[in-house]
Amino acid sequence: MNKKDAEMIDQRIVELFRSAAAYINAHRASTFVIVLHGEALAAENLPNIVFDLSLLHSLGIRIALVHGCVDGDLERPPGQAPQPTSAGEMAKLRERAGGIGVALEAMFSQGTSKSPMRGADIPVRRGNFISASPAGVLDGVDLKYTGKVRKVDAEAIREELGRGAIVLLPGLGYSITGEVFALQPGEVATETAAALGADKLIVFVPGDGVGDANGATLPTLSLAEGEACRDRLLARGDAESRRAGLALRAALRACRAGVRRCHLISCRKNGALLRELFTREGSGSLLSGAEPHLLRAAELSDVPGILQLIAPLEAEGALVRRSRELLENEIGNFRIIEWEDTLVACAALYPVDGEHGEIACVAIDPAHRGAGLGERLLASLEQQAKATGMGHLLALTTGAEHWFARHGFEPRKLADLPANRRKFYNFQRNAKILGKRL
Ligand SMILES: CC(C)(COP(=O)(O)OP(=O)(O)OC[C@H]1O[C@@H](n2cnc3c(N)ncnc32)[C@H](O)[C@@H]1OP(=O)(O)O)[C@@H](O)C(=O)NCCC(=O)NCCS
Repeated sequence: MNKKDAEMIDQRIVELFRSAAAYINAHRASTFVIVLHGEALAAENLPNIVFDLSLLHSLGIRIALVHGCVDGDLERPPGQAPQPTSAGEMAKLRERAGGIGVALEAMFSQGTSKSPMRGADIPVRRGNFISASPAGVLDGVDLKYTGKVRKVDAEAIREELGRGAIVLLPGLGYSITGEVFALQPGEVATETAAALGADKLIVFVPGDGVGDANGATLPTLSLAEGEACRDRLLARGDAESRRAGLALRAALRACRAGVRRCHLISCRKNGALLRELFTREGSGSLLSGAEPHLLRAAELSDVPGILQLIAPLEAEGALVRRSRELLENEIGNFRIIEWEDTLVACAALYPVDGEHGEIACVAIDPAHRGAGLGERLLASLEQQAKATGMGHLLALTTGAEHWFARHGFEPRKLADLPANRRKFYNFQRNAKILGKRL
């Protein structure tokens, strides 16, 4: 590598570190419940995951780490009965859970001078934080040592987290009879996240997150989208889809129990966790719960609401005027966000040529600005543009140049516009031309 290249890389590292500052501040003192299933525990990438978790801990994030005890764990898709756990299997699970716990403790304790974790000093705590009861008899089958979560001792976990410890929670629970029951790690994680009032649930999965019908990773999902994807993934036969479907099922439950953000992240890709948490682009899939705003494709019946929303912005020249007829014709390009049955935001994606699409008519009701609605609409249209094979996005704006710049748009010249768009450029309006490569 020559000196100039090395300097460029150094500068890039500085910029990356600076751009992470906002995320570091946002996550500090947050509580994350993180799940490592069998695939993650067996992954070559596990030492990197542990290192990245140590880094999160160093940044002031409180971590409860749930881990599986067997490769396939005990989870079954809906409709498929839970499997019984015999006394012999239970004995093996106890042994395996102990072994995994000790191995994780050892990994968090690394601190030789050559280790990247030197000086970290991370206390790890295990304990009887999860009470279980037997799952019982199902359709005449005694499930024996297969159990369900009865109670999470949130106070004791919080105390340990408050002392700066990482809390390890195996997929096991203790009963009032002094027995041990096998639990689904997804259930342990969901119940723990709900009991702690966690800020995030993060599940490591073998794939990149949640894929759409064509396999492209969906960066964000609403609850409704999450439900549809869960059913599609669980209906597939392969192990990767099944694991993503089960992780999504746990995430949906956590969201319904009040956890605002649940992430599905690759357990095989080095650094996927850090990319998801500290970069705008992310790397996995984020399921957003407790979201009163509903994003969807616009319909003809939305035209009056859009007209009402954009009228003041048209009057002040922020948006180009659109007649009712034009809007009705172009409604298929629009996405909107509703809040309590009121249309509060809209944006459109116009195809320009096969390669370019134009983002236009981004309008957020003033009472709902600054809540990330613009960002959500833009992310959703970007996703749509990518799915339809577009490689570039354009935006022509008089007042929101910097807002688009925050989302990766860069200045373009008139000559950069495709010819069929250039000939309609309005010189009187003199809008700034911006572009983003997808
Ligand atoms: C620009 C607009 C779409 C942003 O929508 P939003 O939902 O409020 O944006 P988000 O919540 O995603 O982002 C908010 C952030 O963007 C910033 N922002 C908002 N409008 C901005 C603008 N015009 N220029 C620069 N930054 C802007 C906010 O200050 C806020 O910053 P913060 O997170 O540091 O506090 C909205 O303000 C709007 O409807 N403006 C009028 C219409 C318009 O100009 N549309 C674009 C032409 S196509």
